[in-house]
Amino acid sequence: MKRRIFGIGFLLSCFILAGVIFVFTRHESQQDDQQANNQTDSRSRSEQSQTPRPEEEPSYDLSSPSSLTVIVNKTRPPLPADYVPEDLITPDVRLRLAPSAEQMRFRRVAHDQLKAMFAAAEADDVQLVFGSGYRSYALQKQFYESYVARDGRETADRYSARPGTSEHQTGLSFDATSPSQTCHLQICFEDTPQGEWLDGHAHEYGFIMRYLPGKEAITGYQYEPWHFRFIGKDLARKVHASDQTLEEYFKLTD
Ligand code: DAL
Ligand code: ZN
Repeated sequence: MKRRIFGIGFLLSCFILAGVIFVFTRHESQQDDQQANNQTDSRSRSEQSQTPRPEEEPSYDLSSPSSLTVIVNKTRPPLPADYVPEDLITPDVRLRLAPSAEQMRFRRVAHDQLKAMFAAAEADDVQLVFGSGYRSYALQKQFYESYVARDGRETADRYSARPGTSEHQTGLSFDATSPSQTCHLQICFEDTPQGEWLDGHAHEYGFIMRYLPGKEAITGYQYEPWHFRFIGKDLARKVHASDQTLEEYFKLTD
């Protein structure tokens, strides 16, 4: 009898011991899991903070007439006929016409960069001239109609914007020329010191050459190595580096 009791007692002790060991080892392994999870979490967090995120594109307003990034072309809604930028000034740079002429206007918001660009060119011995900046709807209409009368509508449409569709009405574009006006508004402007300098440096001041060679089907206009558009420094650098037109860069070509 004693032996039986001893046997049962022994068995019970074994069960209890096994239970204690089970509970203890399970607790340990849960702690290990927890620790491992924590390490994974902290590793992935630190990995996340170390891995540079792809640069987030700011959102650009491509439609408001006064936006620095408004896109004006043949396919987008035209600028209202009465749209006149509120901050037009006569720029403090070398001008082609009398300061009172309508085309000798540019938006104040881009003026510092325009001035800095002309000064930087001057420092490199290149004299830029501000040939034509802001043009009202009425002035563009006058120009366009005179080109149609001279060359016919089909030809005029390849180099002149219809009223309401010219970037010049934004006050953010200008045509560059030189004091001698060599190759004024002609393709050969690209080989003048002014054309070469602007091609290489305009983007550093927030300007892009708007009508690139070989992109007539996209921009709607033949190559204009003299027409520059202010879009802001960051974007101009990116658009210039992409070798794309504004339409391509913003995927507006469909
Ligand atoms: N020459 C450009 C396209 C304009 O007329 O605005
Ligand atoms: Zn122009």
